[in-house]
Amino acid sequence: MIDQFGREINYARISVTDRCNLRCRYCMPECGVQKIPHAQILSLEEIVRVARIFSRLGIKKIRLTGGEPLLRKNLSTLIHELKRLRGIEQVMLTTNGVLLKNFSHELIAAGLDGLNLSLDTLNAETFSTLTRRKFFSNVLDGLQSLPEKFSVKINCVPLVGVNDSELVELATLAESRPVKVRFIELMPIGCAINSSLVGVSSSEVFATLEKNFGVLVPVGKKNSLQGPAQYFQPKNFVGQIGFIDAINHKFCATCNRIRLTAAGFLKTCLSFDAGLDVKNLLRSNVDDDELAAKIRATIYRKPREHFFGDETKFQMYQVGG
Ligand code: GTP
Ligand code: 5AD
Ligand code: SF4
Repeated sequence: MIDQFGREINYARISVTDRCNLRCRYCMPECGVQKIPHAQILSLEEIVRVARIFSRLGIKKIRLTGGEPLLRKNLSTLIHELKRLRGIEQVMLTTNGVLLKNFSHELIAAGLDGLNLSLDTLNAETFSTLTRRKFFSNVLDGLQSLPEKFSVKINCVPLVGVNDSELVELATLAESRPVKVRFIELMPIGCAINSSLVGVSSSEVFATLEKNFGVLVPVGKKNSLQGPAQYFQPKNFVGQIGFIDAINHKFCATCNRIRLTAAGFLKTCLSFDAGLDVKNLLRSNVDDDELAAKIRATIYRKPREHFFGDETKFQMYQVGG
């Protein structure tokens, strides 16, 4: 559907849990977060019902996120159900990879179309320092458990003095495998605000990579379902390098996404409370037509743009990145 500013909204990010088994310093405090009681989290049936309505309204791509989505029981069943919805062309997952090896086979069998994996470092010690957990080898095993041809994007947040000496090595993962390695600018959200972490800008990463690999040739957008990353390919690379320069570029004018939180709130923009308490409606016996009309009206009013600075109001793990 088209919102009040003429943007086509075709991409829903659905958070299936706000829990996580890592404690990345830019995202979660060491003590974890206050857990939402189980009864307050949407059931898988409720998620499928909302997704069916989303698909009626023109959503074509669904990304399951968290927290860490693989902590949610029966995630593969959910993927299987979502893939059966008419109009849903892609079901994707964003994961930290800790549990990936155990699930990769069944996720793919359920019809998962692709996966984004968070991997900020290739050094086990740096991984433990940054995530406060010793799961580095689990993540690598998870990555290796995926078939070569499966669509994989690796997300890396470059940080001064943490992983900035490894950026070439990380980019090299895309040299002989058809993966996309993406560098994401650190956003001033949640724990990133009061931490001592400093992000490396995309333009600095770009310059470092060009110095090493030669010219990065831009790769055009394949379709309207793509997110805000811009992709490039060095000569002789099978895969691609992507940049999400959220600080110096605003994606709002072409934003195609809505978000459903694990607790069932429809958020139409990162930094606004504006949205709809879908869970409340689901549990008060409204029929699908009424629910669809309310969701449609909410999406139509999607705000024009977000403002960094307002993001203190939400945490990344609540809205699934
Ligand atoms: P695809 O292009 O479908 O792979 O989606 P994506 O890149 O949005 O997915 P992913 O979950 O891997 O998120 C990557 C990064 O983009 C994370 O750091 C997110 O926080 C950031 N991101 C996701 N959505 C938004 C958004 O609406 N605005 C901004 N500024 N950043 C976002
Ligand atoms: N800035 C940039 N990226 C972030 N992520 C989490 N918090 C932030 C932040 N403050 C990233 C994770 C993961 C993706 C879904 O979101 O590294 O790859
Ligand atoms: Fe978990 Fe992702 Fe947050 Fe890291 S960034 S603590 S993996 S939700």
